[in-house]
Amino acid sequence: MTSDRLYFRQLLSGRDFARHDQVAAQMVNFVYLIGDLQTRECVVVDPAYAVDDILNIVEQDSMKLTGVLATHYHPDHVGGQMMGMKIQGVADLLEKTQVPIHINKHETKWVSRTTGLNENDLVQHEGGDKVKVGDLSITFVHTPGHTPGSQCFLVEQRLVAGDTLFLDGCGRTDLPGGNPGDLYASLQTLASLPRETIVCPGHQYSALPSANLGDVVSTNHVFRPSSQQQWLEWFGH
Ligand SMILES: [Fe+2]
Repeated sequence: MTSDRLYFRQLLSGRDFARHDQVAAQMVNFVYLIGDLQTRECVVVDPAYAVDDILNIVEQDSMKLTGVLATHYHPDHVGGQMMGMKIQGVADLLEKTQVPIHINKHETKWVSRTTGLNENDLVQHEGGDKVKVGDLSITFVHTPGHTPGSQCFLVEQRLVAGDTLFLDGCGRTDLPGGNPGDLYASLQTLASLPRETIVCPGHQYSALPSANLGDVVSTNHVFRPSSQQQWLEWFGH
């Protein structure tokens, strides 16, 4: 696909949607809209906090939502109970529009538990699977560690990284299902992608909203350990 057909929007919670939501503003989550400008189809990555706002943006852009891609089960990405509050997410979105929810198969029970959705509402994927959006092809990369079925999405030299990799740092491994050894392997997988890949993280934890992988690998301390053993000594629990 020629890149002038690519529709790619990065939306910051508390700024671009869920504007008056203190939690959304504090959590600085990124939601992504990815699609084909010619066929006007798009998917949303990790819709949470204010489903109507996100759907309105899709509509204002004259796009049609054809699916949800979920990076992992945490409620700031798919909705559910967080810090005693109900966060909107994929279950609320499904009430407005019937679209498939694409997850990694290792995340199924976790997503089901967080969102209250039935496993039949979820399309389970393996790493390496591809989903077509119009003429666009999105590749799923299984990156366990932050959670068992964390996944990243590769599309047109962009890596939508969820909570696996931030521009500075990486996802924590001390929450249920986290595994530091797995995260080390996943970060190595991501580091082996082409250096010009643009890393699009799940949160704005740095001044920049995105950066190329070459810069991230050379500046992010999570790539400094030279072996898994050293990694576990520095970052393991
Ligand atoms: Fe997370």
